[in-house]
Amino acid sequence: MPTPALDALVAEIERCRAEAIVALQAAADEQAVEELRVAFLGARSGRLKSVQKLLGALVAADPPAAGRHFNDLKTAITRALETAQHRVAGQAVQAQAIDVTLPGTAVPTGHVHPITQTIRQVQEIMARLGFASVDGPEVEDQWHNFDALAIGREHPARDPLDNFYLAVARGADPLLLRSQTSTVQIRVMEQRQPPLRVVSLGRVYRPDTADATHYPMFHQVEGLLVEPGTTMAHLKSVLRFLASSFLGGDVQVRFRPSFFPFTEPSVEVDMEWGGRWVEMGGAGMVDPAVLAAVGYDPQRVSGFAFGLGVERIAARRYGVSDIRDFYRNDVRFLQQF
Ligand code: DAH
Repeated sequence: MPTPALDALVAEIERCRAEAIVALQAAADEQAVEELRVAFLGARSGRLKSVQKLLGALVAADPPAAGRHFNDLKTAITRALETAQHRVAGQAVQAQAIDVTLPGTAVPTGHVHPITQTIRQVQEIMARLGFASVDGPEVEDQWHNFDALAIGREHPARDPLDNFYLAVARGADPLLLRSQTSTVQIRVMEQRQPPLRVVSLGRVYRPDTADATHYPMFHQVEGLLVEPGTTMAHLKSVLRFLASSFLGGDVQVRFRPSFFPFTEPSVEVDMEWGGRWVEMGGAGMVDPAVLAAVGYDPQRVSGFAFGLGVERIAARRYGVSDIRDFYRNDVRFLQQF
């Protein structure tokens, strides 16, 4: 039979249960939930502790019934507590997550490699002058890498020590990893008729020992313009525009006499920036023999071509003194660009 004392205990238990559940459901964050845990389940002064004291006084009257009520209460509050803990923990995770609707939220991400950035910028600058970006294969035949560029069979540039030849069946002409992007000039001229303005940026390979200024793989910018009436003055203007746009400021361009088998005349291109002259590559007027070899009429059209080192212009712009840094993949270096 329930006794008045047991009734009072049950009433207190129900009050306690209701208060705990309402409070836990309303708790806004982890701290509030923790405070409620201490308030209700705390080992020393929690609310359940005082209920337990009432229980102690009642044990003589109806121990099993009183104990059952008390245990139910404890289970109910523990469950409500766990539910609340899960809920606020989820909210905390959501609060750390990215709200893409917020303006100006800094999100750390990867970014484009400085060499690729340079390639894209050069493409964009040359596009302003009407040069279309074209591409060619990195595994080349000797015709495009040498013969069509008037680099004869006995020319030292063909030396196996200076090229990455690929193994082929006996008797066949070995292919090679292209040693220059001038190959693309030939590929384009074979397929298209003048007028022509193209730029090609890509990898080239030479078996050089890696040091601060050499790497067995590097990149070149190759420019080619073929139109009636083209002169060296056009070449210099285009190079100066490219250099000034890429490096910023008014960059001076200097030509020094040189020799390449596929240009006549040929020059080395130097650029002055920040008070220093730096060699950037080679250039010249496309040799009439090269124009004739691809079926153009050298009497009607002339053209210029240039080939610059991408790593060189990038190193110059960013103040990098060792091109190996571009390929070490050290994020501390790469993050600067
Ligand atoms: N291909 C040459 C090299 O790798 C650079 C070069 C020189 C490219 C003269 C040209 C050019 O287009 O006209 O050294």
